[in-house]
Amino acid sequence: MKAIICRRYGMPDVLQLQEIEKPVAKANEVLVKIHAASVTRAEGMMRRGSPLFGRLFMGITKPKYPVTGTGFAGEIEALGEQVTQFQIGDKVFGESVFGLGTNAEYVVVAEDGVIAFKPKNISYAEAAPICDGALTALNFLQIGKLKKGQRVLINGAAGSLGSAAVQLAHYFGAEVTGVCSDKNAAWVADLGAATVLNYQQTDFTQLEQKYDVIFDSVGKRSFSECKRVLTKQGVYLSPVLSCGLLFDMILRSIFGSKKAKFSATGVLPVPKLRSMLEQLRTLFEADVIKSVMDRDYPLEQAAEAHRYVDQGHKKGNVVVMV
Ligand SMILES: NC(=O)c1ccc[n+]([C@@H]2O[C@H](COP(=O)([O-])OP(=O)(O)OC[C@H]3O[C@@H](n4cnc5c(N)ncnc54)[C@H](OP(=O)(O)O)[C@@H]3O)[C@@H](O)[C@H]2O)c1
Repeated sequence: MKAIICRRYGMPDVLQLQEIEKPVAKANEVLVKIHAASVTRAEGMMRRGSPLFGRLFMGITKPKYPVTGTGFAGEIEALGEQVTQFQIGDKVFGESVFGLGTNAEYVVVAEDGVIAFKPKNISYAEAAPICDGALTALNFLQIGKLKKGQRVLINGAAGSLGSAAVQLAHYFGAEVTGVCSDKNAAWVADLGAATVLNYQQTDFTQLEQKYDVIFDSVGKRSFSECKRVLTKQGVYLSPVLSCGLLFDMILRSIFGSKKAKFSATGVLPVPKLRSMLEQLRTLFEADVIKSVMDRDYPLEQAAEAHRYVDQGHKKGNVVVMV
């Protein structure tokens, strides 16, 4: 089968289209014919082998799992003999982390792994990035214990995580402020942000307004910068781990009522991820949330897709079509 292979860490040029052996489903696995696969910021970091501590999991000198891509959407083509939850032809989506990559024609996934039926009303391209933006945003809003009527600020509201977080927070009944550049302001408001701030003109950390939850979905502002505009019991959330954030999390778990939190969504227990995927499937089918789509590339142009995503200005999600 065709797959995008990364044999050494580096710039997008390290990605190569190659023929590799098609995987075979083991007894408890399903073989998925992939139609669309994610290209995410996290996958760019995996390609670069950064941050360095990540190499403990990804391979010290070169990638341990050479096929790139984590999110997928496709159709089940074959079943292991013990599989009971899925049938051939089922349309599914999910994630494969630390194993077979999804920028390929096929992937095998354990039937009790991170896999779910695709929402009926969305395309494969829209389903493939759900495990990046929507799943992570849901996880973080749950960690922040966002409640109806609370004020939440989402920094990076035009990104994959941010655009999902705006929609989910609005659905949960929070008053949403989205922070993005001017060119994205109108559609971020349409997603459910009551207020939209242009980060090139307004520094939200200097406002008088206080927020119960600040989700810095792009990791651009630190807890120290944000704590001034958090309410007394306010929570700062960031999906981007740094030494500073680690320090703030430890310190704030002991002292002070304002908290700083991080979570690595992809490594949460699989039953928890599956239950969140089910919740998201319901929300997609009820048209409460949608995947904001920026660009799609043919699989062969995965390096081009990485180049674009690396710039840090995509709108929502980018996928490769297989
Ligand atoms: N911890 C986890 O579980 C987890 C899971 C998935 C991803 N992540 C991480 O989460 C981060 C965000 O991922 P993502 O895919 O959502 O990012 P993304 O889509 O690449 O973010 C791009 C967006 O960021 C906006 N942006 C750029 N500079 C900004 C600034 N200074 N202030 C506010 N917005 C700015 C851009 O808006 P403009 O074009 O308008 O500037 C663009 O729309 C990545 O670092 C990723 O690795 C963590």
